[in-house]
Amino acid sequence: MKHAIILINAYTQSEHELNQPLRLKGELERLGVQAEIIRNSPAALRVEADFCIFLDKDKYTAQALEGRMRLFNCAKAIEICDDKMLTHLALSGLPMPETISSLLCYTPSSPVSKELIEEVEARLRFPLVVKENHGSLGKQVYLVKNRGELEKIAEQLKGVPHLYQKYVAESSGCDLRVIVVGGKVVAAMKRTSDSDFRSNAALGGRGEPFAIDGTARALCEEIAARLSLDYCGIDLLFSEKGYLICEVNSNAFFGTIEQVTGVNVARAYAEHIVSSVCSAEGRNLPR
Ligand SMILES: Nc1ncnc2c1ncn2[C@@H]1O[C@H](COP(=O)(O)OP(=O)(O)O)[C@@H](O)[C@H]1O
Ligand SMILES: [Mg+2]
Repeated sequence: MKHAIILINAYTQSEHELNQPLRLKGELERLGVQAEIIRNSPAALRVEADFCIFLDKDKYTAQALEGRMRLFNCAKAIEICDDKMLTHLALSGLPMPETISSLLCYTPSSPVSKELIEEVEARLRFPLVVKENHGSLGKQVYLVKNRGELEKIAEQLKGVPHLYQKYVAESSGCDLRVIVVGGKVVAAMKRTSDSDFRSNAALGGRGEPFAIDGTARALCEEIAARLSLDYCGIDLLFSEKGYLICEVNSNAFFGTIEQVTGVNVARAYAEHIVSSVCSAEGRNLPR
């Protein structure tokens, strides 16, 4: 019998984050894998298992653990997806809103680079979007309407890695969330908010099933392949020129999209994992 660990964040208490590992554990056990949920800790690095579903974003633990067992997702993919600017760079050449990186600041007393502010204003115009590189659930994404607001936020975030991005007005309050498992799209929903430009479910965005077209499907499958992702949730924006990549989540929650589409995402992921582990050993998926 295979033994898996499902590693979650050391501190999380969130209901969402506790539901996700339980669902995956249930689906792995259905496939004959013994699965144990553990929190990130120094002891986690000593656990013996055949593989790990890594639901944390701790790139250090991920890299250390990867020397000992197969990780879903792999450490590199987790690291890239946890940083919106690294994701942008890794997906270079694919359709994305124009993006400018903030500049590393070692001296908090220095004023924000005027050159940066001027370039951001000239190229992106107002309103524009500012995102902290590490953020989720829409909480670290801001709409900036004028030069004064830009200067203020640039000053506030001077010590925090962030990016400036063209605002895609056609997509205001809506986006497309797509789940890719094992290189294939398994579920898609359109998310809409009536009260905010951000359509995150956590901020009140509601989901509806979306019949994904060939263009969005091919784009999402290319993203997953390029980033070596076994599992991901991709956000696409709707623009006049077609889909634009908003961000890629290596640990996307699947609760809402399962409810909206009726797709058992946890099962699809567990089946992909078990078949990957078996095929690495030259065996077929147990039925
Ligand atoms: N450039 C943009 N133009 C318009 N809306 C955007 C843009 N970037 C993000 N959004 C909106 O904000 C939401 C949150 O942004 P996202 O990059 O996905 O961050 P998070 O990781 O917090 O979900 C998106 O789902 C989308 O609705
Ligand atoms: Mg998002």
